[in-house]
Amino acid sequence: MTASLSGKRILLIIGGGIAAYKCLDLIRRLRERGASVRPVMTAAAREFVTPLSVGALAADHVFTDLFDRQAEQDVGHIRLAREADLIVVAPATADLMAKLANGLANDLASTILLAAGCPVLFAPAMNPAMWAHPATRRNRAALSQDGIRFIGPNNGEMAESGEAGEGRMAEPMEIVAAIETLLDSAPKPLAGKRVVVTSGPTHEPIDPVRYIANRSSGRQGHAIAAALARLGADVRLVSGPVSIPDPAGVTVTRIESAREMREAVEALLPADAGIFVAAVADWRPANETADKIKKQKGTGAPALALVENPDILAGVGHHEKRPRLVVGFAAETRNVIDNARKKLDKKGADIIVANDVSHDSGVGDRGVMGGARNRVVIVSRDGEEAWPELEKEEVAERLARLVSEKLARQPK
Ligand SMILES: Cc1cc2nc3c(=O)[nH]c(=O)nc-3n(C[C@H](O)[C@H](O)[C@H](O)COP(=O)(O)O)c2cc1C
Repeated sequence: MTASLSGKRILLIIGGGIAAYKCLDLIRRLRERGASVRPVMTAAAREFVTPLSVGALAADHVFTDLFDRQAEQDVGHIRLAREADLIVVAPATADLMAKLANGLANDLASTILLAAGCPVLFAPAMNPAMWAHPATRRNRAALSQDGIRFIGPNNGEMAESGEAGEGRMAEPMEIVAAIETLLDSAPKPLAGKRVVVTSGPTHEPIDPVRYIANRSSGRQGHAIAAALARLGADVRLVSGPVSIPDPAGVTVTRIESAREMREAVEALLPADAGIFVAAVADWRPANETADKIKKQKGTGAPALALVENPDILAGVGHHEKRPRLVVGFAAETRNVIDNARKKLDKKGADIIVANDVSHDSGVGDRGVMGGARNRVVIVSRDGEEAWPELEKEEVAERLARLVSEKLARQPK
C-alpha cells in the first residue's frame, strides 16, 4: 500500500442517506493511505451510522453540533473548515446539495461548507427520482459552477428493493481515487504521452464453460498503469479477467483471450510506450467447441490439442507502428537473466523486466504470481539492474519513473 495521501487532512462530512455505511470503509481506506480523517456527521447521518463507529475508525472526535460549547470557544466551525486540505461530502444528500447551492448554513455541515477555502468533493447518493429532479439538476450545475467537484453517482441498484438507476454513491475506492487525483500536486513528466499497458491472465476457451488460464492476478500490471497515470500519461490498459478494481485515471479495455488482447493492443497504436505485463497464454485449445464437451461412458478423457497463440510483445516489437519504448515482462522459473537477454532481440523489446516466478523464488509468502511482492531484474542493451524485493506498487513506481526517463532521452 502506498501512502499516497500521507499527511493530507480530510474533513469528511457524512450526510443522511443509506450509503452512509460505505463511509466506514472510506475512512479506513483513506487512513490506510496516510490521510487523517476528521468526521462531521449531520443529524440525519446519525440515524444511519453511529458516531461511535465513525469516530473509532477515524480515530478522531466526531463533530456533530454547530452549537457545541467546547468546540465553539474558538469558533470551531471556521477552524474545521480551515484545517482541511480537502472536504469530502459522502453521501452528499439532495438536501446538502440544495443547501450549499443556495448558501444556507443552518447546521454544522452546511456552515463548514460555506466557510470552506479548500477544494470540496461531493459524492452524491439518492434515489434516481431525486437525482433526476430539475431542482437537483439545477443545484448540481450551480455547485459545479462554484467549483465544487463531483464523483458519481453511478448507475446501479438502490438500497430500496427493486429500484435501480442513476443515484448510487460511487464506491469507496472510486472516491479514494478521485481524492488522490484532486490532491496530487506531483510533477507530470508523462503528460501528453500515450502508454499501452497489458495486465492479468488470458482465458483460452476449451468449450463454452471451460478455459485454460494462469495464476496472474493483474496486480503488477494494474499498479504500473496507475503509476504511469500518476505521472500524467494517457494510459490505455488492456486487461484480462481479474478480480481487482480498475486503476484510477486509466482507460480500460477488457478482453479474455490472447487473440482479443492482440487485437485490442493493435487498435491502440500508435503509442509512445508499450508495457506488456499480462501473462498471455502461450497456447490455446486447437478446437474450441460450440457445445459443452460431455462426459461419455467408455471413451475416457478427451485429448486436448493445443496451438500456439500470437506473441503480442514480439508483434508490437516488430510492428510498423512500434512504440518508441517497448517493455516486456518475462516470467521465468530458470536461467531468468539469460532467457530475458535472449528475449530482447527476439521480441524487439528495449527492456525486459525479468522475474522469477518459481515457487521457491523466496519472494513474499505466496510467490510472485498472485502475491503482493515482486523481485525483478531490468535487462536492457545497457546492462542489467537487479532491484530488491519490493511491493508490486513500489516496482510500479520505479518502472514508471524509468519509462519517463527513457522517453525523455529518446529521440521523438
Ligand atoms: C431511510 C431513508 C433513506 C434516505 N436516503 C437518502 C439518500 O440516499 N439520499 C438523500 O439525499 N436523502 C435520503 N434520505 C432523506 C434524508 O435523510 C433527508 O433529506 C435529511 O433531511 C438529510 O439531511 P442531511 O442532508 O442533513 O444529512 C433518506 C431518508 C430516509 C428515511
